[in-house]
This record gives sequence, structure tokens and C-alpha cells, in this order.
Amino acid sequence: MVAITRNSKVVVLTGAGISAESGIRTFRASDGLWENHAIEDVATPQAWERNPQVVWEFYQGRRRQLREVEPNTAHLALVELEQYLGENFLLITQNVDNLHGRAGSKNLIHMHGELALLRCETCLSVFEMMDDVHLESDYVACQECDNPRLRPHIVWFHEMPFQMPEIYAAVEDCDVFITIGTSGHVYPAAGLIDVAKSCGAHCVGINLDAPVNLQQHDEFHQGKAGELLPNFVTNIIKK
Ligand code: OAD
Repeated sequence: MVAITRNSKVVVLTGAGISAESGIRTFRASDGLWENHAIEDVATPQAWERNPQVVWEFYQGRRRQLREVEPNTAHLALVELEQYLGENFLLITQNVDNLHGRAGSKNLIHMHGELALLRCETCLSVFEMMDDVHLESDYVACQECDNPRLRPHIVWFHEMPFQMPEIYAAVEDCDVFITIGTSGHVYPAAGLIDVAKSCGAHCVGINLDAPVNLQQHDEFHQGKAGELLPNFVTNIIKK
């Protein structure tokens, strides 16, 4: 098993699997549907253009769910790792829930956006809007301009993930790259391990099933993140 010191630069990439034990469904369940919707019907700019009401209601449901879920032991273990490493730690998540932040992670990039935020496509303002009135409404108007319909601040398919320059800089520079709870299907996130590996990082995976990019990992721990990660963090810090 990999060993780290306080000087090790560690980048962690998480996906839906880390929030599964908090009660949030992963994307690629066996029926191919995400909360009973085909992904392309709710997670593309085309869907928002064609049928904004369906997309809006879908995301309102996901946003309301955030009030019913709590961070789990895997989210908390990553906070412990960050407390040990300080500035040498970066957490990149593909998840749009707010569980890493609520657990206490600080150096955190939400590369696929955040359910808690809404964005104006006219003036590009971003607002955190999680009050009851926002979670229950049919559309929310922009507070900065006259756009009556903010969109979810989510990276949909065919859109570019956020903060890619910072992500690539950190991944190219890290000593250890850890993937947790991600199937390795969606790019560019799934390709970050290739960048880490080609720059000499030791690559570790923790996942319930083998990810499609399993062969890129130097070390793989199969199981539930909530069960494996607390001990994993304790062990790599202790060594
Ligand atoms: P997936 O649903 O594709 O994969 C989740 C992975 O987590 C699977 O490999 C599961 O085996 C694993 N898993 C499930 N429960 C777990 C547990 N308790 N502990 C550890 N692993 C577990 O989700 P992502 O890889 O995150 O993009 O999907 C990537 C992107 O595809 C998402 O961010 C989203 C989606 O379309 C956008 O919304 C842009």
C-alpha cells in the first residue's frame, strides 16, 4: 500500500460511488436510467432548450434531496486526509451534491458544477439558492438582470467541465492520485489518471466494481468507500 508524508502531493478524484452510502443513487445503475430519466433527456443543453420544465423539475428534485442526506464516513475520511496534508491536498469531485463541503473539505473543485447553485445564462451571475422558496418554485428569476429563468449550475453533456487548467496543473504535479467511486466512463474526468500516471504519480483506486480504466491503477481496493476509506487513510498516514 502507498505511504505518504506531509510533503506528499495528493489529488483525489471522486464520483457518485462516494455518495452512494449517503443515499444518493449513482448514474450508471443497471437499468441505464438516472432517477427514472434517460441522462440525455435531463442533462444536456438541448434538453434545457427543448423542454426546460422537465429539466428544471428534475434538478429541483435532486436539489431537494440534498436536505435529506448527510456526509458519510468516506467524505469524513477525506477531510482527515486534507487536515494531515494541508495545501498539498486537492479534492476534485464529479459529484454535484454538497456532501464533501458539508463534511468539511476545503480545497475542493466541483468539476461538474453544484446542485446548490443556479446560473444566469444572460449575465453569467451565479447564486447559491437553497431556501425553501427557491426549492419549491417553478423557475427562479435572476437577481442581477431581467432573465426570468436561471439554469442549474451543472456541467451537462457537451459542455466543458469547470476549472480544467487548475485541475490539470495539480494532477500533473501530484505524487499520489486516488480515484474513489467513479466508473471511469466520462471524460475528461476519466482521463485524469492517464495524465497523473504519465507524470509519474502512484495511482490508487477504491471502488465497488472494477472501473473501466482499472489497468491504469497501480493499486486497487475493491469495496464500499465508506467501509474502506477510513482505514485506508489511517494506514497511509501512519506509515
Ligand atoms: P457512475 O455511476 O458512472 O459510477 C459510480 C461508481 O461507483 C461505479 O463504478 C460503482 O461501482 C461505484 N460505487 C457504487 N457504490 C459505491 C460505494 N459505496 N463505494 C465505492 N464505490 C461505489 O458515476 P461517476 O463515475 O461519478 O456527469 O459518473 C461520472 C459522471 O457521469 C457524473 O459526474 C455525471 C454522469 O453523467 C455529469 O453530470 C456531467
